[in-house]
Amino acid sequence: MKASRQMFEESGVQWWLGLVVLYLWVSGVVYTKDTPWPCPQPCQCNSRTLETNCSDRQFEAVPDGFEPDCRLLNLTHNHLKTLVSQQFKGLTRLLELDVSDNLLVMMEVEAFLGLRSLRALRLARNRLRVIPAGAFKGLLQLQLLDIRDNQILVLLDSTFQDLAALRRIDTGRSDLVFVSPHAFAGLTNLQELNVDRCNLTAIPTEGLRPLSGLATLSFHRLGLTRLTNYSFQWLGNLKTLVITHWSVLETLEGNSLSGLNLTFLTVSNCNLSNVPYASLRHLVYLVHLDLSYNPIRYVRGNSLRDLLRIQEFHLVGGQLLRIDPRAFHGLAQFKVLNVSGNLLNTLEEGAFSLVGSLGVLRLDDNPLACDCRLLWVLRRGVPLDFDRKPPVCATSAQFNGWSFLDFAPVDLPGPFTCRRSRILNRRAQHVQIAEGYTVLLHCSAEGDPMPSISWLTPQRVLLTAIGRRRVLANGSLEVRYAQARDSGVYVCLASNAGGNDSIRVSLVVRGFSHSSRNALLLNRTQSLPFEFKTLAVAVTIGVISFFSSVTICYIFMFLWSKGKGQIKHTATIEYMPRSSASTTNGGKGHMESSRFTMKLI
Ligand SMILES: *[C@@H]1O[C@H](CO)[C@@H](O)[C@H](O)[C@H]1NC(C)=O
Ligand SMILES: *[C@@H]1O[C@H](CO)[C@@H](O)[C@H](O)[C@H]1NC(C)=O
Ligand SMILES: *[C@@H]1O[C@H](CO)[C@@H](O)[C@H](O)[C@H]1NC(C)=O
Ligand SMILES: *[C@@H]1O[C@H](CO)[C@@H](O)[C@H](O)[C@H]1NC(C)=O
Ligand SMILES: *[C@@H]1O[C@H](CO)[C@@H](O)[C@H](O)[C@H]1NC(C)=O
Ligand SMILES: *[C@@H]1O[C@H](CO)[C@@H](O)[C@H](O)[C@H]1NC(C)=O
Ligand SMILES: *[C@@H]1O[C@H](CO)[C@@H](O)[C@H](O)[C@H]1NC(C)=O
Ligand SMILES: *[C@@H]1O[C@H](CO)[C@@H](O)[C@H](O)[C@H]1NC(C)=O
Repeated sequence: MKASRQMFEESGVQWWLGLVVLYLWVSGVVYTKDTPWPCPQPCQCNSRTLETNCSDRQFEAVPDGFEPDCRLLNLTHNHLKTLVSQQFKGLTRLLELDVSDNLLVMMEVEAFLGLRSLRALRLARNRLRVIPAGAFKGLLQLQLLDIRDNQILVLLDSTFQDLAALRRIDTGRSDLVFVSPHAFAGLTNLQELNVDRCNLTAIPTEGLRPLSGLATLSFHRLGLTRLTNYSFQWLGNLKTLVITHWSVLETLEGNSLSGLNLTFLTVSNCNLSNVPYASLRHLVYLVHLDLSYNPIRYVRGNSLRDLLRIQEFHLVGGQLLRIDPRAFHGLAQFKVLNVSGNLLNTLEEGAFSLVGSLGVLRLDDNPLACDCRLLWVLRRGVPLDFDRKPPVCATSAQFNGWSFLDFAPVDLPGPFTCRRSRILNRRAQHVQIAEGYTVLLHCSAEGDPMPSISWLTPQRVLLTAIGRRRVLANGSLEVRYAQARDSGVYVCLASNAGGNDSIRVSLVVRGFSHSSRNALLLNRTQSLPFEFKTLAVAVTIGVISFFSSVTICYIFMFLWSKGKGQIKHTATIEYMPRSSASTTNGGKGHMESSRFTMKLI
């Protein structure tokens, strides 16, 4: 009974639908047949929609004879090469003109004069190289101009002079190399400018200056390696800046975004290796930040805290290894974190100041270790929205491949536990060493996750991986050229999310007595610097050679004076040093010259 009534109702609906279709068909026929609407052959004209469709009709010139009442004119996919002056003069009520996909190389001055009501003009995918100043004259109501995919090299002064109502320009994929400083003059109402794939060598800062009302600016595929200071300094009303696919962009200079007061910022598919903290700092009204597809490795703690109103942070497909504790600290309105497709091992609750405000978390496609550090994700009062891509455990053997949604509350903490750090080999260490030597203090620990090891000096200063006293990658502490003041009790601290452990290691550096210093001197010659060794040898050789020369001279003189039997009271003695090294180094103090006079008694 019920079924048959339903059938009856359905057939009733069909009947009515049939009537409506018939009526529409009849009225359509009546309109197209009977209304005398001038329509250039072989175009299609529709007097109801007031549309003239001349698309794909092999026109080589714009046809004549359009209905003056026409609102939409479609001339796409023809072979038009030029638009001559006042071509569309009579179409005062035209709202939209589409001349895309033709072979246009030229537009004459005043080509569109008379199109008083035109709102949208599309000239995409043509071969325009230049737009003469005055080409757009008379387009008083124009709001959208699409000149994408042409071959425009230069935007000349006053190109857009008369387009006071223009709200949006798309200049995608052009060969643009230069924007002259007054190219955009007169565009006081422009809201949106999209520039794609051009050969500009710098941001046309001065050229953008007249666009004081601009709200959205996008630059795609530019070949710049740095964004220089004050690039957008005149665009104080800009709300959205989108920079994508600048494959060689490596640096945003510190003041590159100065003058802007943005709400949305995207710098994606570029080559940034760091979050550009310095250039972001003043953007206190920023709500949405997207740095996706950049080779960024770390988000540092406390460094975004000036972005008070930020709600969304996206860094998808980067190379993030770590999001530091306190990375999003101070961001009270933080709602969406999208870091899927990175190399993150974990994400600690301590990264946020108010984890309660977080609503959406995309952490999928990361090699996550499911341990106590991620338990907060499952333990939240209000469940997090994973945007249909829940995180997946990757590193624990047992739960590898488990999605976070696979764990029921009763299973918890279950695998999401940590094993606190434990230092291995806890024997008390007392290390003694003589001054000048290098010593290693060992410390290794186990735990899950693997603990990190740090060392404190006897003065409780944290040591780092550089310096004379440094922490090696395997946790050992190296003290090179130990000095007496290095003595004291060092502390090794092993810490992980499960807990900390520490041991004390005492180091005594012996200063040495005089004799041991000499012994050490000999021992050390191997490791001592080259100059010291040379100096010691040179001194020895110099002293020996000096005395031996003098002695030989004495003997020689004695024999000579004996043989001659004469007595001379003075004698001048010259001698040659044995080696040049001895005079330059060792003999310096003793022998200023190699000649002296003596008196014989
Ligand atoms: C205009 O004509 C082209 C070619 O005949 C056709 O593909 C297109 O759908 C038409 N457009 C409209 C809005 O009727
Ligand atoms: C713009 O750059 C592209 C790619 O680098 C190049 O092929 C093209 O010739 C350049 N155009 C001009 C006008 O320099
Ligand atoms: C990106 O930057 C790295 C160095 O930071 C460089 O080695 C690499 O070639 C750059 N990539 C491109 C596409 O320029
Ligand atoms: C850009 O501005 C930053 C921050 O004031 C400054 O450190 C840097 O030297 C400037 N760069 C240039 C090229 O002037
Ligand atoms: C910055 O923009 C916000 C709205 O996004 C506005 O309330 C604020 O007044 C602007 N600040 C300045 C200095 O223009
Ligand atoms: C996160 O980023 C991906 C990739 O860009 C995007 O598809 C997704 O919609 C984003 N999710 C949220 C919640 O914004
Ligand atoms: C740590 O590394 C250093 C040098 O790389 C090595 O000498 C030392 O023995 C290592 N420590 C341990 C505990 O293996
Ligand atoms: C463990 O050590 C870290 C520093 O490495 C410290 O921040 C943390 O508070 C310590 N935790 C405990 C439970 O002592």
